[in-house]
Amino acid sequence: MSKKPLILGIESSCDETSGSIISENDKGQPIVLSNIISSQVDVHKEFGGVVPELAARSHIEKIDWIVQKAIDDSGIKINEIDAVASTAGPGLVVCLSVGLSFGKALAASLNKPFIAVNHLEGHALSPKLNSELNYPYLLLLISGGHSQYLSVNNLSKYQRLGTTIDDAIGEAFDKTAKLLDIEFPGGPQIEVLAKKGDPNKYNLPKPIFNKGGCNLSFAGLKTAVLKITNQIKTDQEKFDLAASFQKTILEILYKKTKIAFEQFEKQVNPKEKKFVVAGGVAANKEIRNMLMKLCEEENYEPIFPPIELCGDNAAMIGMVGLEKFKLKQFNNLDYPAKPRWPLDENAAFLKGAGVKL
Ligand code: KG4
Ligand code: ZN
Repeated sequence: MSKKPLILGIESSCDETSGSIISENDKGQPIVLSNIISSQVDVHKEFGGVVPELAARSHIEKIDWIVQKAIDDSGIKINEIDAVASTAGPGLVVCLSVGLSFGKALAASLNKPFIAVNHLEGHALSPKLNSELNYPYLLLLISGGHSQYLSVNNLSKYQRLGTTIDDAIGEAFDKTAKLLDIEFPGGPQIEVLAKKGDPNKYNLPKPIFNKGGCNLSFAGLKTAVLKITNQIKTDQEKFDLAASFQKTILEILYKKTKIAFEQFEKQVNPKEKKFVVAGGVAANKEIRNMLMKLCEEENYEPIFPPIELCGDNAAMIGMVGLEKFKLKQFNNLDYPAKPRWPLDENAAFLKGAGVKL
């Protein structure tokens, strides 16, 4: 039996520092030997959001021991690593630069290939860590910075079907949480508070619900939440607003996903109807349940990464690194950190006032 590749993945694009060792089984499926994630919640809590300079400093302080622990926990030796894969974008340049420089330096010192990974591709392929998945499949990527429907046609081959024209869905959760005075990071707390509230109490807007194909918009929703929070007096009203907000998101995603299914079938003509949901917001159980029900109605197979791999992690980066390693897709050591790096480079930039849908 030939030696299986061992890839070190490194992630530092935002506020998680992470290192992971990935290999593969006899069927060529990726296996996670270690995945160490250190979150910076305590660093940013008092500011109510991620402060780039502090995030970068924290990455610098931790990256050494995180990578060392990833290697130790996997049971391999550092010189057995076959390639180093680091997130190169999109994200905060000061943060990306930490994991990118560290990865390049380590690859150079080990005399092994270096692989630059798109963070979004990590999310997009993350379900491969627990399920067999063939291309093409439809992907809903919902994170703190992105909300997109994409046809994943192959490694590095994406076709965007729809995107947000303003805020990302995770951003809408986080901003609503902030307005409700929930401590950072508030997004996941909305789900918890919503359980105690009446989802029909407040009627919130659903921007571009009846136009724009499967494009999304959440900015108007946030403004409506702001107006209501100014009148809220009791905890129960707070729970009701959290529940109403989440219900509105569910209704938007239900309708837009149905449109995305139609577009995927028409434009891509796939052999199998598989629907992958990835990114931090895919951890939301209500969203998962609603999308699973929709898949049942529309005859799609729903696929979610394990909850612990929905947020930012280096396992997904190492896994993309493994796929690229097998195709010998290596990068030079002058590869830059990219703040913007869309998966579908050909898709039009759809953001801001005056966007025509
Ligand atoms: O993918 P991720 O970890 O980081 C980015 O690449 O953006 O996603 C983080 C986002 C945050 O906006 C967070 O509030 C949101 O995912 N999130 C959730 C839940 N868990 C994380 N939003 C709603 N419900 C959740 N349970
Ligand atoms: Zn992410």
